[in-house]
Amino acid sequence: MTPNMPLPDLIDAVRRNANLPDSRSEATPPQVYSSPEFLELELTEIFNHEWICVGRSDEFANPGDYRVTRIGRDDVIVLCDRDGVLRAMSNICRHRMMSLLEGEGNLAGKISCPYHAWTYNLDGQLTGAPHMPDNFDKRTCRLPQFAVEEWLGWIYVNLDQQAAPLAPRLAHLAELLANYDVASYRTLFRVNEVWDTNWKILFQNFMEPYHLFAVHTNTVEPALPTRLAFVLEGGPGYCLYKQGRVAGVAYEYGEAMHNPNPALTQDEANSVPLFGAFPAHVVSVSAERTFWMSLMPEAVDKVRVFWGVDVHPDAMPQGAEREARIEALKASFHAINAEDKPITATIARNATAQAAEPGRLSPKEKTIWEFQRYLARMLTGPLEDDTGQRAGIAQAEQR
Ligand code: FES
Ligand SMILES: [Fe+2]
Repeated sequence: MTPNMPLPDLIDAVRRNANLPDSRSEATPPQVYSSPEFLELELTEIFNHEWICVGRSDEFANPGDYRVTRIGRDDVIVLCDRDGVLRAMSNICRHRMMSLLEGEGNLAGKISCPYHAWTYNLDGQLTGAPHMPDNFDKRTCRLPQFAVEEWLGWIYVNLDQQAAPLAPRLAHLAELLANYDVASYRTLFRVNEVWDTNWKILFQNFMEPYHLFAVHTNTVEPALPTRLAFVLEGGPGYCLYKQGRVAGVAYEYGEAMHNPNPALTQDEANSVPLFGAFPAHVVSVSAERTFWMSLMPEAVDKVRVFWGVDVHPDAMPQGAEREARIEALKASFHAINAEDKPITATIARNATAQAAEPGRLSPKEKTIWEFQRYLARMLTGPLEDDTGQRAGIAQAEQR
């Protein structure tokens, strides 16, 4: 393939790739990872209109709790206001576009701009603007508000206030996860970092179990082996696979696995469902914990990875053992990521090579096929055999 393919040709390639049947599916064309024009298109068509995970509801439990996060090209404040309402709004001052807040924390007072001290209530209303003339009416000025939705305890934000709600398109996934009671899981730790890869390479890497035996030979594979992983049928808003556990083995810490949740069937306790909620939230769910990442492109070969682990309320030991367990969990997930980082970075680098070509996919990579079809739908409209799928979306949205 040509390293610098014009955008219309690249979009055609994406469509061709997505229209391949499952039984003849191929990997993503390399320019889809490396083209700056393609990234701009993704930011406009996908990230300006889709639900992005920004954390968990227990992180915004108290009035004033806030986090600044980037969605597409926008910096967004997510906060719990004085009435306990969860809100998302622009982090850009309505005066001369300075950023209002940074990082995360708790706001004791109002939001105050560091540039000329305009102040805003936690609902985004401007309440103070020093040295302004009498003909300036503060009431006409409010930070733009974005859509917020909670699903199984995760908080998602959409820059598009008109966007269809998230829950209907994940409805079947919620049914499948029901017994895990993920909404009751509590935040354990968060990490915010930048990986040297394309956001789609990382999404696909997280969502395929084919590489576990080769890349995670001594970490994941002994507990969650490739041979026990099977891709399940996805839906309009997600792809999914079910990972079987080797009985009694945990890879996250030294001792045997322990199921804290009596509601789970034997099969559920011995499985780890992994799902990718399109476009950029990838999650592994077990009886004891979740391990998830929310991805945001910063460049064709840079992705911000906001990731963390949450635990079932009865999964953790108490007292001194608790701290040791948290450290063990952190260390094991950092170790797994350290195995994935060089692989995903190398693929991003190779995507610019003139000899790079997409190869055939394994059935254990069917999640990648589904992700590619999602991408093509978002950028080019319904696919050739989409009648059933479109009906599925319509049905889900009506519910
Ligand atoms: S840019 Fe915020 S007060 Fe001037
Ligand atoms: Fe991996």
